[in-house]
Amino acid sequence: MKTVPRLAVLGSGKGSNFVALQQAILAGKFDAAIVLVVSDLIGAGILAHAQGFGLPTATLSPSPFRTKLSPEGEASLVDLLHEYAADWVILAGYMRVVKAPLLDAFPNRIINIHPSLLPAFKGLRAWEQALAAGAAETGCTVHFVNREVDGGEIIAQQRVPILPGDTPESLHARIQMAEHELYPAALAKVLARSPSPP
Ligand code: GAR
Repeated sequence: MKTVPRLAVLGSGKGSNFVALQQAILAGKFDAAIVLVVSDLIGAGILAHAQGFGLPTATLSPSPFRTKLSPEGEASLVDLLHEYAADWVILAGYMRVVKAPLLDAFPNRIINIHPSLLPAFKGLRAWEQALAAGAAETGCTVHFVNREVDGGEIIAQQRVPILPGDTPESLHARIQMAEHELYPAALAKVLARSPSPP
């Protein structure tokens, strides 16, 4: 039987990037299997989407911190990812900073999508930052995750214009359309050059 890269997807939100990835896999755009979808938020939309595709899901125990998991919480996440034999960790709207337990367990194997043209507008609600800065364009970036928040090696980017009259909602919606094209294409590129763990 052909072995394909095993992806675990982590998300905190509505899950539209996860859906784009799973649809691309089902359409045969790249060889991979999503083996687990994890959220840090009970009731996150991404979990319902995953269940709709018949994929296993898990919800993390509440963290005492808003922006990260506790070291113990992240260590149990690592155990869970190993239990499902995940090769890659794919962040799709996961809103916690990834720390040492996960980084050390999956070196160069954690990928994120961020809603700006990094290094511009790191951090939260990047589309609002772009609007507030009066930028003429923004976009989205797929990158490796390392210790520096939104600072890892860039894999691919897509530009998105900012139009007169844009609101945060209209701009984020346009960025998300770009994300749904960029993420599957960028993952296909990474997996083609490094399909299985070293
Ligand atoms: C996406 O726009 C993603 O780029 C962003 O959250 C949204 C999740 O949407 N991620 C970040 O801001 C990470 N810093 P989704 O749940 O519909 O995929």
